[in-house]
Amino acid sequence: MAAFLVVSITFCQFLFLKKAFEFQEKTSDHNIQKALSRVLREINTNGQNWDQQGNKSVNQLSPKYFVVNIDHKISSDQLKSLLKKEFSNMDINGEFQFAVYDKKEKKLLFGDYISHGKPDKKAKPVAGLPVYDYNDYYFCVYFPFKNQNILADMGMWIILSGLLFIAVLFFIYTIYILLKQKRLSEIQKDFINNMTHEFQTPISTISISSEALKDSKMIDSKERIINYATIIQEEALRLQKQVDTILQVARVDQHSIKLNKEKIDAHYHIRKAVEKIQMQTGINPNYCVLNFQAESPYLLADPIHFFNIIYNILENAIKYSKDLPEVIITTSTLKNNFNISISDKGVGMNPKEARLIFKKFYRVPSKKIKNIKGFGIGLYYVRLMTKAHGGKIYVETKVDIGSTFTVCLPN
Ligand SMILES: Nc1ncnc2c1ncn2[C@@H]1O[C@H](COP(=O)(O)OP(=O)(O)OP(=O)(O)O)[C@@H](O)[C@H]1O
Ligand SMILES: [Mg+2]
Repeated sequence: MAAFLVVSITFCQFLFLKKAFEFQEKTSDHNIQKALSRVLREINTNGQNWDQQGNKSVNQLSPKYFVVNIDHKISSDQLKSLLKKEFSNMDINGEFQFAVYDKKEKKLLFGDYISHGKPDKKAKPVAGLPVYDYNDYYFCVYFPFKNQNILADMGMWIILSGLLFIAVLFFIYTIYILLKQKRLSEIQKDFINNMTHEFQTPISTISISSEALKDSKMIDSKERIINYATIIQEEALRLQKQVDTILQVARVDQHSIKLNKEKIDAHYHIRKAVEKIQMQTGINPNYCVLNFQAESPYLLADPIHFFNIIYNILENAIKYSKDLPEVIITTSTLKNNFNISISDKGVGMNPKEARLIFKKFYRVPSKKIKNIKGFGIGLYYVRLMTKAHGGKIYVETKVDIGSTFTVCLPN
């Protein structure tokens, strides 16, 4: 709707300017013809604006070119002074050039090129003024910059239109900001919903478990006490991890990315991440195939952030797998870059979604992953950190086939 309005306003404005130009052009043509008629009246002995056959003597042959039939010969100088006088009377200030037809030689003899009321000696005669087999005596006047002069006369209108155009642009910008704000507030709402849910589950598990521990019958069963204590510990750890993730991104957002770069063994950290995920999720220890082909495992990077990058991508590969996760991690050295590819055979994404996943709080709105919880900040963090290391991250993905995330870090 807004786009339609903007396009209509711009179109109307264009039409308005075009009409205004045509109007100015008509007025200018009318004034020129009037001035030329006056010149003619002073030249013609009979003082008429018509020739003997009753044809009009002042004719406009093209927008910039006027021809005037006269009934006797006139010198260039005489014509020049007449033209200057009448043009200045009619307030026609633009540059012009005139030529008088020479009957004997059958060609146009150029007069002066008049610029700002004075002859401009340097200006060359306009080539290509056509000779008309028109009348025995005639002269013609050519206005090379007529359109420019009309535009200059329309200055006020053009400025006003320009202002209106700026107002329209401003309007578009405001709408853009409004839409962006709306999207942000929706995202924020989703995030708070997600967070509440994520926090609620461990909190209620912890309170139920502690309630159970308080039960007097429980004191006798050491095994059950240990069971509940383990549950509480695990849930507390889960809460801690979630708080950590949010804090991590909050810290990064305050532009305080501090990298403690050191020479690290990338393969060692990748193995550690694979193990940690296995321990946390309890999945088959062989879920991940390691295909290390990099010439050297060493890399200059911040070990904590490097570990988190791999961990986040790997965690997604497990979270968004269809049934049993199958992951392949490949490392390679290419043009001084250390590349790490993490491929899964999960639910995949369509290209439109894939373009958005690195944005903060973005989660693919799909039924398939409805029950999978998350904040939508894992990949945002990954991209920020990869960039901070001077690297890049790509994703290749197909719905129902799987995804490959490739991190390229400069070596
Ligand atoms: N390997 C993958 N396969 C399919 N979809 C994925 C994959 N990795 C990420 N996605 C999609 O990208 C979205 C953003 O991922 P991201 O890791 O940033 O957030 P999240 O996993 O939802 O939450 P968290 O902040 O806890 O990581 C996910 O919600 C998911 O829809
Ligand atoms: Mg994630």
